[in-house]
Amino acid sequence: MSDVRTQAVRGPLCTEAPGCTAAEEPTRTATTTIRATATSTTTPTTTPTRTQAPTPLPELVGTGLPVPLVDGRTVPYANLDLAASAPALRAVADHVAELLPYYSSVHRGAGYASQVCTSVLEGARETVARFVGARADDVVVFTRNTTDALNLLAGAVPGATLCLDVEHHATLLAWRDTDHRVLRAPDTVDETLELLRDALTAEPTALLAVTGASNVTGEILPIDEICAIAHAAGTRVVLDAAQLAPHRRVDIAASGVDYVVLSGHKLYAPYGAGALIGRRDWLDVATPYLAGGGAVRSVGVADRTAEVSWAPAPHRHEAGTPNVLGAAAIAAACRALDPVIDEVAPAHERALLARLVDGLSGITGVRPLRIWADAPDRVAVASFTVADVPAGLVATALSAEHGIGVRDGRFCAHPLLARLAGGADAVRVSLGLNTTVEDVDGLVAAVRAIATSGPEWDYREVDGRWTPTPDPRDLDPLRLGAVAGPGGAACGH
Ligand code: ALA
Repeated sequence: MSDVRTQAVRGPLCTEAPGCTAAEEPTRTATTTIRATATSTTTPTTTPTRTQAPTPLPELVGTGLPVPLVDGRTVPYANLDLAASAPALRAVADHVAELLPYYSSVHRGAGYASQVCTSVLEGARETVARFVGARADDVVVFTRNTTDALNLLAGAVPGATLCLDVEHHATLLAWRDTDHRVLRAPDTVDETLELLRDALTAEPTALLAVTGASNVTGEILPIDEICAIAHAAGTRVVLDAAQLAPHRRVDIAASGVDYVVLSGHKLYAPYGAGALIGRRDWLDVATPYLAGGGAVRSVGVADRTAEVSWAPAPHRHEAGTPNVLGAAAIAAACRALDPVIDEVAPAHERALLARLVDGLSGITGVRPLRIWADAPDRVAVASFTVADVPAGLVATALSAEHGIGVRDGRFCAHPLLARLAGGADAVRVSLGLNTTVEDVDGLVAAVRAIATSGPEWDYREVDGRWTPTPDPRDLDPLRLGAVAGPGGAACGH
């Protein structure tokens, strides 16, 4: 087996390479501050004194999970839906288990375990800040996820917000009760940059919200250039790094981005936390959208109403007992990803994406979705439609007959799917640290079979969701008496 994971080696950081310094003017090439070079599948140097041991990809929990098929067989699960939610890193799960005996109140207790947990939470801020290259005076607010972080930021923006119609609903909708504009993204990156330049010059805009990597196509915009354009117009930039951070280095200081939002559950840390990282001034004065304990300096009652003096950020925006396990999990993920996020993980995923794209391109009836064919980089996400076979049926058959997990639907990006697929649903394949060549080849072969001959089992639509008929699989392996309902999401996904 030619598992590309075994071929990847650590290479020099871009900023250590000749002619590539952090002090360079921002250019299209300078977007490498958020992505590694594409040449890192090389073999280690042959000079003995300089040989570096290959850095292994960190292990994920659940890799090789046995899953049942409708024909009675059991196969190792090929989880190709990591863009939706990624399994925990082993290091993350171990760290959370190690912390659990100490689990206690944070910022609220004099007891030893409380002090340990408080220290873990505050240490997690520093780890996350370092991982994303935060500036010294940036603040890290722990949230539930990216959506939560964007909604929080929306309440702090002192002016209008602008975004493109390619965004995930989280980035499209967070500003809906505020002054905002949504522009149709043109078909090339250069035209998109020009559109943003013109729009930001024409109307004063406080914040530009932009995806780090599309959750539909994986495409990456040149964020350094976007920051330069926005800053020239006096506009700040928030980067939705939910899809980017698990796959490429995010470097706040080098790219100039003002805010970064991310989700633990996509960063291999699925313990219910996310983060908003960025400039402190707006966050220090914004009224918290979640009011409660822990967010205040003092509270009084006067004239039968509660009066409050809010604490500064981050505590101002973390009312209620903080999710210390979630924050610790994200920090553990940052530590585990840090050695591989510049070179090894991107090289592994680029090789697999190229194989996937190549394989799918050879299947009659499969149509890939792209926003910008000239995007300078792309994380390992690929969406497509299959002629004459509904996306939901493709996804269900991949699971039921092949043990492959993918996402189907409109990916919480309805405007983009309206544009790219005429409003139809699509299939999305997303890869990550534990994806293998076998996973990709198996997916391609299965899609080819479905596109060519249709599924082999019988299926019918139940409540808008394709369902194997019959479905002999045990859907309650944990013996919880779980209600076996249609999988996926029929609720405006
Ligand atoms: N935002 C997640 C996705 O794209 C849920 O699948």
